[in-house]
Order: sequence, then C-alpha cells, then structure tokens
Amino acid sequence: MQLKFGSFPVVVASSADMAKLFLKTYDHIFASRPQLAAGKYTTYNYSNITWAPYGPYWRQGRKIYLAELFSSKRLESYEYIRVEEMRAFMSRLFSLSGKPVVLKEHLSRVTLSVISRIVLGKKYFSESKSERSIVTLEEFQEMLDELFLLNGVFNIGDWIPWLRFLDLQGYERRMKALKKRFDRFHDHVLDEHKAKRKAVKDFVAKDMVDLLLELGDNPDLEVKLTCDSVKGFLQDLIAGGTDTSATTVEWAMSELLKQPKLIDKATEELDRVIGKNRWVSEKDIPQLPYINAIMKETMRKHPVAVLLAPHLALEDCQVSGYDIRKGTLVFINTWSIGSDQSVWDAPKEFRPERFLGKAGKDIDVKGQCFKLLPFGSGRRMCPGYSLGLKMISASLANLLHGFNWKLGGTNQTPEDLDMEELYGLATIRKFPLVAVMEPRLPVHLYHQF
Ligand code: HEM
Repeated sequence: MQLKFGSFPVVVASSADMAKLFLKTYDHIFASRPQLAAGKYTTYNYSNITWAPYGPYWRQGRKIYLAELFSSKRLESYEYIRVEEMRAFMSRLFSLSGKPVVLKEHLSRVTLSVISRIVLGKKYFSESKSERSIVTLEEFQEMLDELFLLNGVFNIGDWIPWLRFLDLQGYERRMKALKKRFDRFHDHVLDEHKAKRKAVKDFVAKDMVDLLLELGDNPDLEVKLTCDSVKGFLQDLIAGGTDTSATTVEWAMSELLKQPKLIDKATEELDRVIGKNRWVSEKDIPQLPYINAIMKETMRKHPVAVLLAPHLALEDCQVSGYDIRKGTLVFINTWSIGSDQSVWDAPKEFRPERFLGKAGKDIDVKGQCFKLLPFGSGRRMCPGYSLGLKMISASLANLLHGFNWKLGGTNQTPEDLDMEELYGLATIRKFPLVAVMEPRLPVHLYHQF
C-alpha cells in the first residue's frame, strides 16, 4: 500500500512475503531511518542506534551492542541481577495478595530495575520516600513514558517541513524539555562512573556504562564515541527494554485471564516440570513448551511495535514489480501479518496450541520466520531481543507459577475484560489490567531474596 505523509511517500508492507522482500532480499536498501524530530531532540541528534542513519556510526554501534553488550556471555553474567529482581517482584506481589493490583505498574518496575542495574550498575532512582536519588521511580517512569510517546507520535512538522517552525502540536517543545531532564540524569550517571574509574587502580568494567566509557577511550574505533554517543546509547538501552517487555507480559496475562482454562494448562506444565518447591529459572524455559507457546501467541496477536520502526529507502529500487523511490518510508505492519487468515488459522482467537505441534514449534520469533516478526528482521532487527525474551519468559512463568489469578474489577467476568489497544511506539492496553492474586507455593519461597 502506498500513501503520502505530507511531502513523503510511504509504503506499508502487510504480508509476510512483502516483509521478507523489504527485510531480507532488499534489506541493504531499506536499512536506514528517517531523520525525525524525535531522533534529533530526544536522542542527541541521532547519536543512538535506533535513529542513526545507515552508515559507519550505526554499524559500529550495532557491533558494540551485539559483541560487547548483548553477547550470551555478558547476558549470562547479569543473570544474578534478573534473579534478584524477580524474587523481589514476587515478594512484593505476595504482600499484596488478595488485593486488586494494576499489574503493569509492577511489571514496569521490575523491568526498569533489571535494565537499570545491567546498564547503569545500580537503580539510580529512589523506590521509597526515605531514599534520596537523582529521580524517584515515578519521575523516571514518567520520563520514559514521555520518551516512548514522543518517539511514536505523528508530528506534523516531520512531514510538512515548512510548518515545522509552528510546532502545531507542541511536540517539539516537549521533546526539548524532555531532553533537558534526561541530560541531567545522564550527566549524573556519567560523572559518577568517571569518578569511580579514576579512583580505582586497574579498574574493571562492571556495567554497560563502564564498557561504553572504556570504548570511548579506544583510539582504534573507526568512529570516535563522544559523550553524546554514550548518552544516546544509554537512552536506547533504557527505553528499548522496559516498556516493550512489560507490555508483552501484561497482554499475555490479559489473554490468559480471558480464558482461565489456559492458565490451568500452564500451571499443569509448571507443576509437572518445576514442582511446587522452587521458582522457575531461566534455564528451565526451554523445558516449558506451553509457556513458550503463550509468549509466541502473545507476540503474534499483540506485537508491541506494530509497525516496527520506520525504514528508509537509500536508493531507487523495484520491489515485486513496484517502483520505490529513494527517500520512501517503509513500515512493516506486523499486526496485519499476525492477523492474516491465509497464514494463520482463526487469527482472532488467542490459541497458544498453534505453536505446539511440530510445524508450530519451529516458528521462531528471532527474525527467521516472516509471519512472526515481533523484533523485526535483518540489519535493523532488535539487538536486545535475547534480553527481552529472557525477561518476558521468566516474568510470565513465575507469575503463573507463584500465584492463582483472577480479574480485579468488581464482579468482572472474563467476557467483560476490554482488550482495546492504544497505538503508539508501543501498543499498550487502553485500560490497564487489574488483577487479584493469591499465592500457590509454600510461603517461605516468597521471602527468599
Ligand atoms: C519485548 C521486548 C522487545 C521488543 C518487542 C522489541 C522490538 C523491537 C523492534 C520491533 C525494533 C525495530 C526493528 C526494525 O526497525 O525493523 C527494535 C529495535 C531496537 N531495539 Fe528492541 N525490542 C525489545 C527489547 C529490547 C531491549 C531489551 C533492548 C535493549 C536493552 C532493545 C533495543 C533496541 C534497539 C537499540 C533497537 C534499534 C536497532 C537499530 O535500529 O539498528 N530492544 N526493537
């Protein structure tokens, strides 16, 4: 489908075959990004990886992400952080047993805590009134929500450049204000890390900020990493990993609460494979096919980044007989692909079983199967997908293992549960899920951290 956004031609690919052409066959042509106001103001003039145009800076940044920050060895070394935060999460929910909770608030807190500790070395936000930090948890969450919102808005000035100076919707003003708040936060984090590096002899990098600062000193890098590069990368890492994972788990729990018999199947599997005397660990996940099937089905029906991130044509080309001009924006509509009746049987239904049979099990989410692309595919595919999958699977499995669930609204039945979506950079629930849980494991397990 070809559209026009102001002065820009836009193509939307809505089938698995077209997605494959754009993201595999012609990936090298569609691997850039448009220069939108969000990238300019909120990510240090395109100094992050998400908004960086295709070229040596982006290529080097991606190499750093994949080889240094997201290598399986590095991710394994941070497993203890994910375990500690998961236990603290289970314990917090235990203390709220029997009361209605807004699940997303708790999911966001645990993903933000994990990502902050992995990336920044500690949380840097205060979780209670007695602590003093540069920001409170609520302020930090609010900054991230604003970042997500502003990176997903339709900003008129991007598409009709001669109207930009009017900033009709006020988005650019908000972007500049947000940049100031993030800048203050990043300066504080970097100052602390730099001071530590100076003070300790034979300093060994512990977190991703340390690693990035070390790389900043490396004279052999093809493109020098500046202070803005490090801040841009931090923005990517903190924003990329939090709302995406929390939103996916909230959708999964919503679908399950709509069909409680699916929860029975999941807990049957958990009781059989894990037993009732311990929590689920990351290495158990491959032995839990039903939990894996729930994750895939959630990503099919509720892909967080419905249109992926915009791709930009670097040169004129022809795709499947259509002429596409240099500078055309390409969106891959993963929601349409996931709802395509010619590819999926009864696509409107949430049916994890479709991923259990031989053919279903082989469908992966890692960019090889073009009918399921929650993380995209090809050169611009999400570099943080393995961390995202680890966080989603461990949260989902432990939520189901640790608690019995029911809906939290007064007399709310599964049929009443509204599944309306709110479109943005991440497609979230219009009405946050409210649920009530009761523990289902021995009490001492909830105090193990
Ligand atoms: C459920 C979890 C996640 C989902 C669904 C997700 C999804 C995506 C999608 C759809 C893209 C765009 C792909 C494209 O343009 O074709 C993307 C890009 C990206 N993601 Fe993720 N992501 C997740 C977790 C993470 C995590 C944990 C991080 C880092 C900590 C991360 C960092 C990034 C970055 C830096 C990019 C830009 C890549 C580039 O432009 O080269 N994401 N992600």
